[in-house]
Amino acid sequence: MNMNRKRLNVLVTGGNGQLGRALRAACKGSPDRYVFTDISSLPGGETVFLDVSNKAAVEIVCESEKADVIINCAGYTDVEGAESDPATAARLNAEVPRILAEVCKKTGAVLIHISTDYIFSGEASEPIREDAAPSPLSVYGASKLAGEKAVRDSGCSALILRTAWMWSEYGRNFVRTMLRLMVNRDSIKVVRDQTGTPTYAGDLAAFITNLVSSRSFDKAGTYNYTNLGACSWYDFAVAVRDLSGASCEVAPCSSEEFPQKARRPHYSVLDKSLVQETFGTEIPGWRESLEKHISEVNGN
Ligand SMILES: NC(=O)c1ccc[n+]([C@@H]2O[C@H](COP(=O)([O-])OP(=O)(O)OC[C@H]3O[C@@H](n4cnc5c(N)ncnc54)[C@H](OP(=O)(O)O)[C@@H]3O)[C@@H](O)[C@H]2O)c1
Repeated sequence: MNMNRKRLNVLVTGGNGQLGRALRAACKGSPDRYVFTDISSLPGGETVFLDVSNKAAVEIVCESEKADVIINCAGYTDVEGAESDPATAARLNAEVPRILAEVCKKTGAVLIHISTDYIFSGEASEPIREDAAPSPLSVYGASKLAGEKAVRDSGCSALILRTAWMWSEYGRNFVRTMLRLMVNRDSIKVVRDQTGTPTYAGDLAAFITNLVSSRSFDKAGTYNYTNLGACSWYDFAVAVRDLSGASCEVAPCSSEEFPQKARRPHYSVLDKSLVQETFGTEIPGWRESLEKHISEVNGN
């Protein structure tokens, strides 16, 4: 199929989640036709019902929508919940990518699949390249790694994008939680011994829609995409506080003081050189994107 000339049909799964909704905004003005699917509805947004764990349904919708590209934003993203429900995590994060990849292999569609920094153990001390050996610490991380493998093993044309610490104006995420807590509390404790890179979903969504518009499908492979820079969750919270003008005290604590079921990597900063060199992408710094985001939320 020659994808360079025609208007593409782009099917987004999990279209009502954080990244899905960021894509709804980012694809405005795109020359391509985006179709958003999910298992829920979205007030004010058109959604085609599609349970991606049902292969027959995926085949029917891909055929009826004539999908040239599938962007898989569906997933089980509750890192804590996955520890007590590994079957659901495996179904959505490993089995679903396998189903989508098999359908893409059969139809010739391109798959853009989203993965995570949590496939790494956190032993690294410098930004992690795409070819570093993964070793997930959590059920979520292991299920996402299995999803990547299923996509690669299928032999379909796929771009796997690993991102991290995503926030947006939608759904549940760290920035929204902090903004809410900082209004209601005098002080909060935030872990300082996990270092990574926050990623604004709008930046990742803009990268993906540009990738589709530029028809860069011959650059299939695995790429890291987060914002630039690195920080701890504590630094991230302090930045949210300072940029929003809140006065809540933010105190650092260790992961041990804040026990969670799922272990997280202590260091999971991803190296972005490959995505920058391959696509000529200019990636904003996390703080710059946070500043813009908070000023928009505040209506400035
Ligand atoms: N959020 C992060 O910090 C982060 C970091 C690294 C990587 N990622 C990856 O980025 C991707 C997108 O993350 P996100 O934060 O946008 O996730 P999200 O907000 O949790 O969105 C996932 C969407 O998938 C939907 N979904 C669940 N089961 C489904 C099914 N059977 N069929 C169709 N849709 C289904 C969810 O619906 P319900 O809400 O109704 O269940 C939700 O709308 C995921 O692959 C995630 O692993 C996220």
